[in-house]
Amino acid sequence: MSSHDTSALVIDRHARGAYSPDVLRLERRAVPAPEDGDLLIEVLYLSIDPTNRNWLKLETANTVREKIGRDLRIGDAMVGEGLGNVLRSRHPDFIEGDVVAGVMEWQETAVVPGARMRHVDVAEDEPLTAHLTIYSHIGMAAMVGLYEIAKIQPGETVLVSAAGGATGRLAVGIAAAHGCRVIGIAGGPDKCTDVLRAGASAAIDYKSEDDLAAGIRAAAPEGVDVYFDGVGGATLDAALSAMSRHGRVAICGVMSDYEEGPHRVGIRNMFLVLIRELKIEGYLAGSHWHRRGDYFAKLRQLLRSGQIEHRIEESVGLESAANQLSKLFTGDNRGKLVVRVGRT
Ligand SMILES: NC(=O)c1ccc[n+]([C@@H]2O[C@H](COP(=O)([O-])OP(=O)(O)OC[C@H]3O[C@@H](n4cnc5c(N)ncnc54)[C@H](OP(=O)(O)O)[C@@H]3O)[C@@H](O)[C@H]2O)c1
Repeated sequence: MSSHDTSALVIDRHARGAYSPDVLRLERRAVPAPEDGDLLIEVLYLSIDPTNRNWLKLETANTVREKIGRDLRIGDAMVGEGLGNVLRSRHPDFIEGDVVAGVMEWQETAVVPGARMRHVDVAEDEPLTAHLTIYSHIGMAAMVGLYEIAKIQPGETVLVSAAGGATGRLAVGIAAAHGCRVIGIAGGPDKCTDVLRAGASAAIDYKSEDDLAAGIRAAAPEGVDVYFDGVGGATLDAALSAMSRHGRVAICGVMSDYEEGPHRVGIRNMFLVLIRELKIEGYLAGSHWHRRGDYFAKLRQLLRSGQIEHRIEESVGLESAANQLSKLFTGDNRGKLVVRVGRT
């Protein structure tokens, strides 16, 4: 039985090759009545993440099934992390008016299983969107990569790629606050300024470097102890050439590989992994979610002391989500991309 209609961004076709916003179309669709265990929510904010682009490839080997218990198909509403306001609860842990976070449909109103949602404690002195940046998979990715995967130590040299982005800027600030010397790689002078403001002592504009490997080696003549990688591909290869003996590489993401095409390159510097005894490890923030209490407390402390920043780039209206997703791949984003959907 349908209770009412809502706007939805629906998957029109597979996002093969380069992402194009027209893989999503806006349409009206019925919202079913919530069943036992469900919540009817008003979607307040959507988080625009590189992983959304990967989910749009509609391949079963990606992680969406872990999040929503099914694969995405053409004709489904797109899904992603978001914040919602509970309009009606049929789950014992939630009541009307609660704010929840979790993976939800890209719709104005949606029905979600309560078991998939988590409570958001709305602090008076913090914006709600901090739960899509600092206290989210973004903050967790930065903390887990630096502390658990790379095990940063004060005095070490830490290189961060996609350093002007949401996760990268947090990683820069966290590592600098830990007493590391941080070098950031970002595209363009404005992003490099952001990287320096975030706490890096050097910023490399990869878009104007003819030889990125030489640029990194010049910025880190003693070698890089930790590489926090959000990009992969040629950037990872260049970083490997500058790693110190026993260096650690935390693979947070591989932006340069998410878009399909001939630009995707293999790693040529594996010999250096061998002779410098490097450790390279990928990880997913979600697999470390049980540690969020400690990490969010540490992030709150860093935020309050000004060592990290909550910076968002907000667009308004569900229909803007498809275009926002493009910005992650063109680099036209200057803060964590979020879409304001509902009234807040
Ligand atoms: N492991 C996890 O659990 C986890 C969780 C969250 C995020 N991540 C990963 O972290 C990375 C950053 O995500 P984010 O949400 O914080 O996005 P973001 O850094 O705010 O935006 C992505 C940035 O990547 C850069 N980029 C895009 N294509 C590139 C290319 N071909 N070569 C070099 N740089 C490129 C662009 O920056 P420039 O302007 O500098 O080019 C762009 O702004 C992604 O790889 C994402 O998948 C992983």
